[in-house]
Amino acid sequence: MNTVYLDNAATSFPKPQGVSDRMKYYLDCVGANVNRSVYTAAQEAGLVTLTLRQRLARLFRFPEPPTHVILTPGATFALNTLISGLLRPGDHCVVSGMEHNAVMRPLLRLPEVSVSRLPCDSEGFADIAALPGLLRDNTKLVVMAHGSNVCGTVQDAEAIGRICADRGVPFALDAAQTAGHLPIDFSALHLSALAVPGHKGLLGPGGTGALLLRDDLAQRLTPLTAGGTGSASDSEYLPDYLPDKFESGTANLPGYYGWEAALRFVEETGVPALREHEMALCSRFLQGLEDIPHVRLCGTRDLSRRVGVISVDFLRRDNAEAAYALETEYGILTRCGLHCAPSAHRTLGTFPQGTVRFSLGFASTEADVDAALHAIRALA
Ligand SMILES: Cc1ncc(COP(=O)(O)O)c(C=O)c1O
Repeated sequence: MNTVYLDNAATSFPKPQGVSDRMKYYLDCVGANVNRSVYTAAQEAGLVTLTLRQRLARLFRFPEPPTHVILTPGATFALNTLISGLLRPGDHCVVSGMEHNAVMRPLLRLPEVSVSRLPCDSEGFADIAALPGLLRDNTKLVVMAHGSNVCGTVQDAEAIGRICADRGVPFALDAAQTAGHLPIDFSALHLSALAVPGHKGLLGPGGTGALLLRDDLAQRLTPLTAGGTGSASDSEYLPDYLPDKFESGTANLPGYYGWEAALRFVEETGVPALREHEMALCSRFLQGLEDIPHVRLCGTRDLSRRVGVISVDFLRRDNAEAAYALETEYGILTRCGLHCAPSAHRTLGTFPQGTVRFSLGFASTEADVDAALHAIRALA
C-alpha cells in the first residue's frame, strides 16, 4: 500500500532535493567544527553557517545583523531560551488561549511568574480588543503561537504587535506553523523575537531551529547554556556578544548544511508560491469535507486567515481509532490526540477527545487530498 504523508505540522516530509546530499557531503567530506580551527574545511563550515543565518535574516526581513539569528535544535529550544532567559520572579506574561506546550511548559515552571491568557473564540482567533486590558506594569513579554498547530488558525500578529509596541512590551511569535507557510516580516509585525523550527515549513532536517532576537532583548536574556564557544578562550566567562552568548558547544553542522540547502529551495520557490500551492489544496480539502456527514472541521474556513493544518473530529467514532484505520486501511499518515496543545483544544471544544490532524506540505498533491477525503468519508 502506498502511503500519503499528511503530518507536515509535526515535521515536513519529504525534504527538497539536495538536503540529504548536503548533509552527506558534510559528514563524508567536511567534518570540521566551526569557530575553532582555521583550516580550509573549518572555514567552509563557518561560511555555510553564516549563509544559513543570512538566509533566515533575509526570509524574515530581520532588521538586525545575522549574528542575532541564534541557531537552536528547534522551536522549543528557541522558546525556552526566550522565556526562561527573560522572565524573573514577579514578572507577568501574556499568551493566547491557543498555545502549544513549547510556550506553556517553560512558562508555567517559572517561579512566581504570573500568566494571563488572551481569550480566543471557537475558531481560535484571539480577542485582540481584550489585550490592552491584560497588560500590566510588570508585563515583560507577550508570546503566542502565530498559527495553531491544532487547527491552522493564524492570529493577526500585526494588530497584536502594534498594541505591544505602543505599550513598550516585547512581542514574540512562535512561528512553528507559519514559518515557510506564509510571509513573515519581522519589523512589520513589531516583533522583538521570532522562534522558528527548521524542520517544518522551512523544510530542513530534524534538530534545527532558530531564535531571531532584537538586540535590546538579546542584551536582557540570560542564556540557557554556557560552555566553550571557540571565542574569548582566555576567559572562563561566557562572551556577551551574539551569537556566541547563546551558542555554547559544538553545533549541529550536518543539520546546518541540510537546512541551508532547504532554505535555498524556499527562497528560490518563494514563500508566496509555497503558500498558494498549500492553500489551493487546503481549499479542496475543506470543500470536500463539507459533503461528508458525521465529521466536524475545527477552526476557520477562511483561507486568508489559516494555514494548511486541518483538524477533524469524527463524531461517530473514536478519533484515535479513526487515525489508526486511516493508516492501516488507507495508508494516510496523520496525527491524532491533543497535539501538545491542551489549552487550544479547550478553546476549540475538543478536549479531551482531541482531533485527527491532516497537515499539508509543499510536496502534497491533489491526489493526496482526494485520497484523504475518500478515506474520511468511508470511516465517518
Ligand atoms: C505551535 C508549535 N510550537 C512549537 C513547536 C515545537 O517545535 P520543535 O519541534 O521545533 O521544537 C511545535 C511543534 O509541533 C508547534 O506546533
